[in-house]
Amino acid sequence: MNSTRHYIGLDVGTSGIKGLLVDESGTVVREASSAYPLFTPNPGWVEQNPEDWWKAARKVLGTLSRAARGNISGIGLSGQMHGTVFLDSSGKPLYPAILWNDQRTIQECEEILQRTEGRIREWTCNPPRTAFSASKILWFRKHHPQLYGQISKVLLPKDFIRFCLSKTFVTDVTDASGTNLLDVRNRTWSKETLRSLDIPESILCDLAESPDVCSYVSKEAARGLGIPEHTPIVGGAADQAASAIGNGVCSPGTLSVTLGSSGVLYVQTEGVIIDPTEALHTFCHSVPRTYQLMGGVLSAAGSLHWFRRTLGRNRESFSQLLEQAKQVPPGSEGLLFLPYLTGERSPYNDPLARGCWFGLTIRHTRAHLIRALLEGVSYALHDLLNSVKALHIPIKRIHFAGGGAKDEFWAQMVSDVFGEPLYISTVKDSSAYGAAMLAASGVSGISLPAISSAWWAPEKQLTPNLKIRAVYTEGYQVYHEMYKGTSKFMHQLAALEGQIP
Ligand code: XUL
Repeated sequence: MNSTRHYIGLDVGTSGIKGLLVDESGTVVREASSAYPLFTPNPGWVEQNPEDWWKAARKVLGTLSRAARGNISGIGLSGQMHGTVFLDSSGKPLYPAILWNDQRTIQECEEILQRTEGRIREWTCNPPRTAFSASKILWFRKHHPQLYGQISKVLLPKDFIRFCLSKTFVTDVTDASGTNLLDVRNRTWSKETLRSLDIPESILCDLAESPDVCSYVSKEAARGLGIPEHTPIVGGAADQAASAIGNGVCSPGTLSVTLGSSGVLYVQTEGVIIDPTEALHTFCHSVPRTYQLMGGVLSAAGSLHWFRRTLGRNRESFSQLLEQAKQVPPGSEGLLFLPYLTGERSPYNDPLARGCWFGLTIRHTRAHLIRALLEGVSYALHDLLNSVKALHIPIKRIHFAGGGAKDEFWAQMVSDVFGEPLYISTVKDSSAYGAAMLAASGVSGISLPAISSAWWAPEKQLTPNLKIRAVYTEGYQVYHEMYKGTSKFMHQLAALEGQIP
């Protein structure tokens, strides 16, 4: 390999680790991935084993470093947000990581509002959410007081990998934004929030901006991975902030849609903007001094994963499932799917929301179930677009990435539902790609917007089909009313779920 610089972008995702080796011109030289399981031990609980992440990361980093023949100038990390890892003083996890889509902390969210007298919104720019780390820390303290006493650090998923690589405790401001403990406006830990919740700052990590070099690969990790000792590691970013950069969002006006396990709409803002409806989060963006508004659908491609896991036949691939959906006309002949399989975040913030197919008739087939599922997720993303539009934020163009963009069929469906053109990125693993951009910016000193605009390229532009759009406009109206009409029953069913004799 020649003297061209190479960077690694590593994304600690929900279904697995994805890694990219990227050269300084932005060309992806090598990809690698490794999957791990997800555990749902109780209704509403979603956990993973941090040691599984590290095992998978070692595999992926080993593959990439062999391909680079040790020529690695920097590493950028990104990862699923909010997942909370409790580490003891020997660096071992005390408990499984509690993930972003876990809903066990409804009571703790109430407790946060009471303890802060509602001022958490002002201090952190965000209300409490079951996803956010603060409620998870309170839950752990209440239910496992002895283990809580042994906590030395609380880490986010990508920062656990950083710890394994460098033995340092650092997080970046975009990921820290999702803890509900960050003063997002000032990009520091919120002293008031920590005091009100009685959480010592000492268990939190040091803070860095996303492109800042803040740790280095340790001798021990270097030996095992074939990566040179002292290779710089930048602050990195939450998967959504990394994905936005990787998807070309480096100035206001470009909206990115990432269709992964979760579905996220993301727009960069110059200053702090608060959504009065609380549908969208206000977080730091990975471009220093800028902010973002973001909304999340909890089970986006995750709904299709669930379908394949529970109703899939003979190891069906995702493309086989999509092929079947293509046989059904738009609108799924009057069948509708609500994708609230792990509750829903934006716009409803309802941890007890539940999914369903509605409108089944004897004519419907399995293929209809699949198409309706894809349409339901697309409608859920449309709910988020409407939340952004309601804030009168100018949107000049929409970039689309994520696993769901790998097959044009679903992307075209989203364009038809939105009634807007979509630019599809050449690199679909936008979080890992964005993480590599952060490494390139931090190590070379070139600004992040300059790297993002130089590397990001649209593979194609999709334009909405207006006839199909008309069908989806009607379908969306029913979809949008469905939650309001059925949430009462969802809550009754959630109560039933806990009543096991
Ligand atoms: C964002 C969120 C998810 C996770 C997993 O707030 O919870 O998008 O980051 O991708």
